Amino acid sequence: MRRAACPGSFDPVTNGHMDIVERASRLFDEVVVAVGVNRSKSRLFTAEERIAMLEQACEPFSNVRVAGFTGLLTTFCAENSIQAIVKGLRAVSDFDYELQMAQMNASLADIETVFVPTSPEYSFLASSLVKEVAGFGGDVSGLIPGFVNERLTARLAERGSGLEG
Ligand code: PNS
Repeated sequence: MRRAACPGSFDPVTNGHMDIVERASRLFDEVVVAVGVNRSKSRLFTAEERIAMLEQACEPFSNVRVAGFTGLLTTFCAENSIQAIVKGLRAVSDFDYELQMAQMNASLADIETVFVPTSPEYSFLASSLVKEVAGFGGDVSGLIPGFVNERLTARLAERGSGLEG
């Protein structure tokens, strides 16, 4: 069985992420959306919330499952018999860092990284920008699943206003 990981923070999942997950699901027998839950970073959504939103978003894809991981991605892949990591590349600016990570991961384990070019309509999309725009009242409804937009709106309202920093 050819199994791939789609790793990320997914804070929150966007339509751009789902485009990559869907395309990976056509390339591999099974795709594991691997949600990085390292505690050091501050997030708008908890690991449990990010995983729950991804599970809902991935419901249409029968060969996709969602799992959280801590520590090294290569360790998670080895433990789950995952042979490949799928990453979306939005622009040349993504390439330097993604190449560095791919080569580091390959030096740590027998794992291939497969780069998938982001569909043009999502090439500007990033969770960080979605949060910033939504935090200032901008309309991000076309960029994230509808139920994620509802949770994002609710979370930002709880937080009281625009995001800090
Ligand atoms: O959505 P992001 O923030 O770009 O996701 C980054 C992620 C989670 C894929 C990356 O930080 C990662 O793989 N973290 C796990 C720790 C690890 O393996 N670090 C070495 C990478 S070469």
